[in-house]
Amino acid sequence: MKHLIDPMDLSKEELDQIIGLAQDIISNREKYQDLLSHRKLATLFYEPSTRTRLSFTSAMMELGGNVLGFSDAKSSSVSKGETVQDTVRVVGCFADVIAMRHHIEGAQLYASEVSKVPIINAGDGSHSHPTQTLTDLLTIQRELGHIDGITIGFCGDLKFGRTVHSLIKALSRYKDVKVILIAPDELKLPDYIKHDVCDRLGVKYCEVSTMEEVMPQLDVLYMTRVQQERFLDLEEFDRVKDSFVLDCQKLSGAKEKMAILHPLPRVNEILTEVDDDPRAAYFRQVENGKFVRMALITKLLEWKDDPLHAMPETDAPETDPTLRCSNGKCICNNENAQHKFRRTDNGTLRCWYCDSKIK
Ligand code: CP
Repeated sequence: MKHLIDPMDLSKEELDQIIGLAQDIISNREKYQDLLSHRKLATLFYEPSTRTRLSFTSAMMELGGNVLGFSDAKSSSVSKGETVQDTVRVVGCFADVIAMRHHIEGAQLYASEVSKVPIINAGDGSHSHPTQTLTDLLTIQRELGHIDGITIGFCGDLKFGRTVHSLIKALSRYKDVKVILIAPDELKLPDYIKHDVCDRLGVKYCEVSTMEEVMPQLDVLYMTRVQQERFLDLEEFDRVKDSFVLDCQKLSGAKEKMAILHPLPRVNEILTEVDDDPRAAYFRQVENGKFVRMALITKLLEWKDDPLHAMPETDAPETDPTLRCSNGKCICNNENAQHKFRRTDNGTLRCWYCDSKIK
């Protein structure tokens, strides 16, 4: 069965099918209005959300389907100690597909091990956010007409920014993409993305310290919020929170057709004066999120029993009773998940669920 836990769960062909269907939905809304009547989507949100949860809800409604679930796990039996795996076993009796957001990294992968319906990762901690990635890809395609060959600058919190991690992974599926990383030292992109994704899959990247020095090169400027909720040390948050602020003056050297993306919510990293600039694509990006989630739900239900659309094959996980994942926010340190590991091409051992390096 096909789940969407990580962007790399989708082949390039599957990505093209989802983006292509989203574009057809945009052009022919009425054709799809009853497509999923009598089908149900469960949205299980253990962490706050506006766009992702409501766009999933709106997407399912536009397809003629129904939605159930919770937006606050405290109102569910999670508050009585029910595990993620038991919760999806139960909800799989009521729904055809489940979209789950969780503050614990790897929770959706762990859930997918027992689920009898497709699981969609709607964001797990700082780790991954593959449906935001689909939204971003559709937006780039619609704004620029192509994804191959772009130069994209990621600016802000590249350490905790799960949308950045996921989009860089997915961009490795496209040709000749150049990634420019713009972040303070405290918020640099994690090594596992640089080495396991960029180096291994051939994504060219460089690191710079200001957006002004690269602005003229960029086809896409991807701004991100510095996420207070991910910091253990609030003094560190205060030091870096205003590192990069986009205003109209900084855009003066940018290409006329550059697209400014932001997964939102923003705090103050894009001044509202930028909103009227035709290159500001972040509110169009929000609407694309609904269309691409309509396409994703449709495709996952279509692919559910098709062996040609199974999950990608991986080497079996390694186990070693003397080793443990050191990430306190990983599912294997929060529920009874076995500590499992995968070995990368260069021999590094990483957590099966959250990708943390095992020391
Ligand atoms: N982009 C995004 O994930 O927004 P929400 O947190 O509001 O869902």
